[in-house]
Amino acid sequence: MIGIFDSGYGGLTVLRSIRELLPQYDYIYLGDNARAPYGTRSFDRVYEFTLQAVRHLFDMGCPLIILACNTASAKALRTIQQHDLPSIDPSRRVLGVIRPTVEAVGDLTQTRHVGIVATTGTTNSRTYELEMAKMHPDIVVTSQACPMWVPLVENYEFDGPGADYFVRRDIETLLTRDPAIDTIILGCTHFPLLYNKVHAYTPAHVKLISQGEYVARSLADYLRRHSDMEQRLTRGSMARFLTTDDAQTFASAATVFLGQEIVAEQICL
Ligand code: DGL
Repeated sequence: MIGIFDSGYGGLTVLRSIRELLPQYDYIYLGDNARAPYGTRSFDRVYEFTLQAVRHLFDMGCPLIILACNTASAKALRTIQQHDLPSIDPSRRVLGVIRPTVEAVGDLTQTRHVGIVATTGTTNSRTYELEMAKMHPDIVVTSQACPMWVPLVENYEFDGPGADYFVRRDIETLLTRDPAIDTIILGCTHFPLLYNKVHAYTPAHVKLISQGEYVARSLADYLRRHSDMEQRLTRGSMARFLTTDDAQTFASAATVFLGQEIVAEQICL
């Protein structure tokens, strides 16, 4: 099975896109809802929690895990890949969501000025800036921390007037800091749930990038290039859902986010 990990519900937006493109495989989704949000936590905590989740998904038999969380991808991925994976099992893989997004944006911006909206943890890590400098050194990046957006989503307020206030404020701040921005990356997997609000406060000429489809395409490409990994994946078109918090609450929220009814199981990390 392919493991998909997020701090909470956000990664469901990535799982949805991945299952649309690659419906044949089996998936286990793990949301660490009991300890979300991660965006305001220190490097050490995000790394510790993410590693626990990765170990759990490995113990369940996943040969491949996607960290469908920008904060975890920014703060834990590299250490897990370089430090932990070689001793846990070098034949398994853990991939993130930042690199596929940065890869894709090179073809999307005309002005070469890109805005990132993300959690405070992701913006402070400067991972988007570092990856962009490696892949597209001509692109100017401006990152805007939006610490209120994840709580709005986790508390089902993404359609409410509170969301309007914070989304408008943060988008206006970003575009004032760099008016040449023509592309904004929703650099947090929770943010596609706020897409309508973000769209309402973004000028029509500015493109909004949700990561799901780019992560899905990048995974498909990875599996094409790594047939050894592809052959280890089971093909039953199944998905299992695990949460560290109440299973019933997770299942009702996930039903809204995924547009289909699911059953969830509670686990301890
Ligand atoms: N969804 C996660 C991300 O992509 C983080 C949300 C959070 O737990 O703060 O950054």
